[in-house]
Amino acid sequence: MVKTVTLVSLCLVLLLGCSTAPQPVLYQRLGADEGINAIVDGLLFEIEHDDRIVHHFADTDISRFRAMLAEQLCDLSGGPCQYSGSTMQESHTGFNISLADYDALVEGLIKVMQRQQVSIADQNALLALLAPMYKDISYR
Ligand code: HEM
Repeated sequence: MVKTVTLVSLCLVLLLGCSTAPQPVLYQRLGADEGINAIVDGLLFEIEHDDRIVHHFADTDISRFRAMLAEQLCDLSGGPCQYSGSTMQESHTGFNISLADYDALVEGLIKVMQRQQVSIADQNALLALLAPMYKDISYR
């Protein structure tokens, strides 16, 4: 009897232990620096080939944009970075970015994440972190 109780308790501990094991943070799930850099490069490619929005980037220092976006995504997703760029409001003022522009960029981002086989749950987790920025980015 005691043996059965001990065995049941042991099984419970093992089961609970497994089900509560911490999930790696989103940063890791996106492939850490390598995965995030690939997402950013993929997004730059999408922007470059998207006639709806590419004009906004005509005068942009692309190497800075690339570095700042990678740093921001690393920071937001729980990675070991601290975003050091301008605020979203500062960097998007003067561009009059519309909802359609925003959607076009997000569409590109989703394409890239799908190409990189980021799971739907992780795509949604990243998009959910970006969504609140819309108000600071648009119509400035
Ligand atoms: C998911 C939403 C977005 C995020 C997270 C984001 C993030 C960023 C970051 C980190 C920078 C660099 C800031 C710096 O230089 O310090 C930046 C700049 C810029 N973003 Fe966005 N952005 C978003 C949406 C958009 C959209 C929808 C457009 C236009 C279609 C856009 C156009 C630009 C442009 C043109 C710059 C460069 C500004 C300059 O030349 O100084 N962004 N963005």
